[in-house]
Amino acid sequence: MSKVLLISDNEVLNSLYSVNLKIYAGLECDVRNSLEEIVDIIEAEDFNYSMVISLCMIGDQDTALLVYHYLVENERESIPLIVMGKQSEVPTEVQQLGNLFDVKLLIGQVATSLNITAQDMVNREVPDYYPMPIRLFFPLKNAPCNTFYQVRSSDGVVEYLTIFEENEGVWPKIRSYLDEGVHVLYVEAKNRFSLAKLVTNQLIEDMNGLSERSETSEKLDKVELGIETVAEQIFDGEMTKEIVELSHQCMNTLAEVIEELPDLKGLLRDLTSNKSGFLYSHSVIAGFVASHILDNIEWGGESHKEKLKFVLFFHDMHLVSVYKKYPDLMYEENLIFDNRLSEEEKEVVISHANEAADAIKRFPKCPMGVDSIIRQHHGTANGLGFATTYKDDISPLAKVLIVAEAFTEELLKSIHRGNKVDISVLVEELCLKFPKHTYVKISKELINIKL
Ligand SMILES: [Fe+2]
Ligand SMILES: [Fe+2]
Repeated sequence: MSKVLLISDNEVLNSLYSVNLKIYAGLECDVRNSLEEIVDIIEAEDFNYSMVISLCMIGDQDTALLVYHYLVENERESIPLIVMGKQSEVPTEVQQLGNLFDVKLLIGQVATSLNITAQDMVNREVPDYYPMPIRLFFPLKNAPCNTFYQVRSSDGVVEYLTIFEENEGVWPKIRSYLDEGVHVLYVEAKNRFSLAKLVTNQLIEDMNGLSERSETSEKLDKVELGIETVAEQIFDGEMTKEIVELSHQCMNTLAEVIEELPDLKGLLRDLTSNKSGFLYSHSVIAGFVASHILDNIEWGGESHKEKLKFVLFFHDMHLVSVYKKYPDLMYEENLIFDNRLSEEEKEVVISHANEAADAIKRFPKCPMGVDSIIRQHHGTANGLGFATTYKDDISPLAKVLIVAEAFTEELLKSIHRGNKVDISVLVEELCLKFPKHTYVKISKELINIKL
């Protein structure tokens, strides 16, 4: 059987790739994550892997790039390399797959690199009882098919004894087999694909839920719900006591989160894991960014932060319904070009800054000037549409928000494309987009923001 060297420190992905490559392409994966071991393997005379698959990063290290160099240095550049994830700086001719969970694509690429045809896959001989690593069963509640373990009697006869019947609970029984040192379980060959598929989906689900629920992410969830609740009610015109109270709670929590976080990393992780909508994520990230600007620019102070709290929470409130209807929508300025939006919905988009500014005026004890900052947050003085040239006829804090939102959009675009984020490039782009010197000054404060 051909062997693949899999370089990864992620247990879930290891199981996912190993089992799928084995079942579909008949490949055996050897998993390694220590660089010394990897160097030894690649340098060894008896190197016998047909290909190498590497996660792009292990920790902070561009592992894939190092692996690529080792291969080249040892004249093994003919060994196909596939990099999982797009943060590596390997040359563009090396295949990089952005979605770590797209197992189907991975199998396809592996098969192409190794000239394995669909026919080969079908024709491969498989034993009646197909071996599966026992840890594949860990994420399952019930066994999807009859499952066996292998015993060999003293006279060498191999027998398969049932451990789970179809639909039988996996836990806690599996633990006792594990304790006895059983590493492999068997299923009838015809069930191997459905089992692999089930486990794959389960692992992916677990992985998504896995992004450690930090205190921050719980706070953020509450605020997101709060925004939606407030958004549903402020249209009626009445700022009830409850709405005011809830808004204050949300604004304060948001400000707290932004103040507490040392860098953007945690925020990006919590907000880009698909859980939060774009509307909300971009407000929180822009809040962090704007707050960084205010901490650094000479005129920034506490009174600006107090206003920022209100602005962040309310500025896009009127877009909530549109984003709720089309959850895949992203960057605000693109909304009016989206064919799915009705004329009325486009009207809402165009006037959302103006509408929110009018609504906030009814909010009791709202700090002075918040309404005009909200009105100007897309660069037009009247709160209608999106500016194409950014002028000096708006308040400084509105400029901060404009720059912060533009930075956030570029940041999110980079992340969604799977590119490595380079702050200095983002800042340069901002300076081009906002050439007036008052904006340039603001943009340049972002050069030392911590990712
Ligand atoms: Fe916005
Ligand atoms: Fe907006």
